[in-house]
Amino acid sequence: MVKIDNIELPDFPLLLAPMEDVSDPPFRALCKEQGADVVYTEFISSEGLIRDAAKSTMKLDIYEKERPVGIQIFGANLDSMLQSVEIVEKSSPDIIDINFGCPVKKVVSKGAGAGILKDIDLMVSLTKAMVKRTHLPITIKTRLGWDHDSIKIVEVAERLQDVGCKAIAIHGRTRAQMYKGEANWRPIVDVKNNPRMHIPVFANGDIDTPEKAKSIRDDYGLDGAMIGRASIGNPWFFKQVKHYFETGNQLPPITITERVAAARRHLQMAIDWKGEKLGVFETRRHYTNYFRGIPHFKEYRMKMVTSDNPEDVFNAFDEVLERFSKHEFV
Ligand SMILES: Cc1cc2nc3c(=O)[nH]c(=O)nc-3n(C[C@H](O)[C@H](O)[C@H](O)COP(=O)(O)O)c2cc1C
Repeated sequence: MVKIDNIELPDFPLLLAPMEDVSDPPFRALCKEQGADVVYTEFISSEGLIRDAAKSTMKLDIYEKERPVGIQIFGANLDSMLQSVEIVEKSSPDIIDINFGCPVKKVVSKGAGAGILKDIDLMVSLTKAMVKRTHLPITIKTRLGWDHDSIKIVEVAERLQDVGCKAIAIHGRTRAQMYKGEANWRPIVDVKNNPRMHIPVFANGDIDTPEKAKSIRDDYGLDGAMIGRASIGNPWFFKQVKHYFETGNQLPPITITERVAAARRHLQMAIDWKGEKLGVFETRRHYTNYFRGIPHFKEYRMKMVTSDNPEDVFNAFDEVLERFSKHEFV
């Protein structure tokens, strides 16, 4: 069994990665149903929360059915981060996760996200202060280091653990790599093999097949896998991995019927959560992923993304179902 503080998780848990504009309540619910053991919100700006920016506070919405759920925040200013801990606590997440890994310029230039990898002392002191401020477990998501020449993740992880961080998820790339090249899981194993390390160490980056997840467990000996892109348009990934672990076999491909059902539920949950207008608008970006591989999908996609009326979108789903369900596999 793996534990994040007092949260008991199965052996080798699968975690849904925080993803901006993706890991919202409807998507998290779908992933949870398909076997994700822990889910995270997308990153939320501590400065935005303090200003009470509506968009930031909406990201704090979490639901009972998705527990255990972590709310992820980012920032580099101690006061703002501490204030935002208090705001986040009101949503009663199970975990508060700090983003020390985002590579994008506008975040890094303020010293936040992966920017903090240039100032490890600040990273540690910020974590320490946040641990002190809340009764909730603080976890960290980070990268291997700023660049290839400054990888000190073994030392960094130990220091974070020593100030009270309860789990660490490490993306096997440096900030300099952004998303290029292949994730390197070896340094994450070094973190795990540090005899002083006792908190869970989760691997992240490029885990996009059940075989790779198995390798992370059996060959690399890590405590769990955090899954990002492989779940986009494929919330079934968690189930596929678990089935492979249990049987050694792959599940059959996801049918059109299942894909349409997921897109339907996604849209309905989005409407229930943020209303018809925003729900219809913000779910549009997911359809290409759900229906990847369908011939001539463009024609249906146009119908799905040009109408503000949910009925039109649901009808377009029905058309896809009618036309392709006989084939089932694409
Ligand atoms: C669309 C998108 C949005 C992301 N947003 C976040 C985020 O809000 N917070 C975060 O820690 N990482 C974010 N990431 C990084 C992922 O959590 C993950 O570390 C990265 O994609 C590597 O894992 P993967 O290969 O399984 O996707 C994002 C990644 C993508 C593709």
